Amino acid sequence: MPVTVIVGAQWGDEGKGRVVDYFAAQADIVARFNGGDNAGHTVIAEGHKLALHLVPSGILYPHVTCLIGAGTVVNPLTLLREMETLRDLGLDVSPAHLKLSAAAHLVLPTHQALDGASETRRGYEAIGTTKRGIGPTYADKAQRVGLRAGQMREPNVFAEAAGALVDAHNERLVHLYGLKAQPAGQIVSQLHQAAEALAPYLVDGAALVGRALAEGKHVIAEGAQGTLLDLNLGTYPFVTSSSPISGGALMGLGVGPKDVVRVVGIAKAYTTRVGAGPFPTELEDALGEHIREVGHEFGTTTGRPRRCGWLDAVILRYAAQVNGLTDFAVSKLDILSDLPTLRLAVAYELDGERIERFPAEWGAEVLARCRPIYEELPGWQEDISHARHRKDLPAAAQAYITRIEELTGVPASFISVGPEREAMILP
Ligand code: IMP
Repeated sequence: MPVTVIVGAQWGDEGKGRVVDYFAAQADIVARFNGGDNAGHTVIAEGHKLALHLVPSGILYPHVTCLIGAGTVVNPLTLLREMETLRDLGLDVSPAHLKLSAAAHLVLPTHQALDGASETRRGYEAIGTTKRGIGPTYADKAQRVGLRAGQMREPNVFAEAAGALVDAHNERLVHLYGLKAQPAGQIVSQLHQAAEALAPYLVDGAALVGRALAEGKHVIAEGAQGTLLDLNLGTYPFVTSSSPISGGALMGLGVGPKDVVRVVGIAKAYTTRVGAGPFPTELEDALGEHIREVGHEFGTTTGRPRRCGWLDAVILRYAAQVNGLTDFAVSKLDILSDLPTLRLAVAYELDGERIERFPAEWGAEVLARCRPIYEELPGWQEDISHARHRKDLPAAAQAYITRIEELTGVPASFISVGPEREAMILP
């Protein structure tokens, strides 16, 4: 049995948790492959509203093995807190159900401090990171000085290595940024305790996934963030430091492309972005404010208000190509109900010329000069939250979805029409 990859098709916050939750019901493994606790995946089920940051969205299903994969970066202290919250809700977060790849890199409190210091130093050019230490941790990984989760297997040896890394970080905090050193002794002692608690969760993640595939099991690769935050193919430098696209799933879990049979791109029915960087269809007016309020567009991890704008088919076409999307899942269609007219960007105007292609590789300056070329479509006023089939939707909502499919060449196989688990139109 195959791998289904689920990725964000925009700038993150597309509602991936919901769709992973749907697929998890028939899956054997749900595995996070990139990012860390900068993510916030919301799943609403059986009276629980779970905001998951590191734990995969399959945790609600007792039959699913949840893996935090090799491509992720894990803050052991926040992971333990998240596990505690889930345990209090009665969920099983034992090592039988939740596993941590030995190759995942660890985020230390000093990585977080360095993230904040670097953002402050950038001033008005700040990226607007989540300040969870994600960039500095991937930087240490690339420099081959990072700590890997597998080192926690021997907590005493691990504590020594962690102490050396904390000291190196403190040197930068003090001498490069002129800040106070973080309390090394306290941090090391917390990490030592965390290592003891997490050691039983460590596994060879790629071996686990490989075995499962050989046995014909179904693996869901759960992406965090979104295509345009990809380090290689996103809107650099306003990106995250990992690879949220489908290629990142291969690297981050250790599977080959032939095992992937389906790549689902989650696209919100409009566009949002948190943090800095150009956003061609942004609505900096009352309408943007309306979408933010109705759509509750505030960050799950940081609480920051999200920037809101019209749906951008130029972005979705790009996401379809770089991920090899087989399907779209359009989320939050209900949030657009009540608007008299909808706008949909079909191309951009760049320096007087029409372009159809998202110009990610040319960088933020070029994207900032792109003006969207819109098509206008009629809105709908009906409540659509009870629709369970496409034909239940008002004609205007059906036409909106059909137009997205025409512009991208990818079927919108899933459409969410409300926050509850069952408020979804399925293929
Ligand atoms: P970092 O991942 O914290 O380094 O942040 C880099 C950029 O990615 C910033 O613009 C963040 O707002 C954005 N970002 C990181 N994680 C998420 C997410 O889960 N949803 C949306 N944006 C995110």
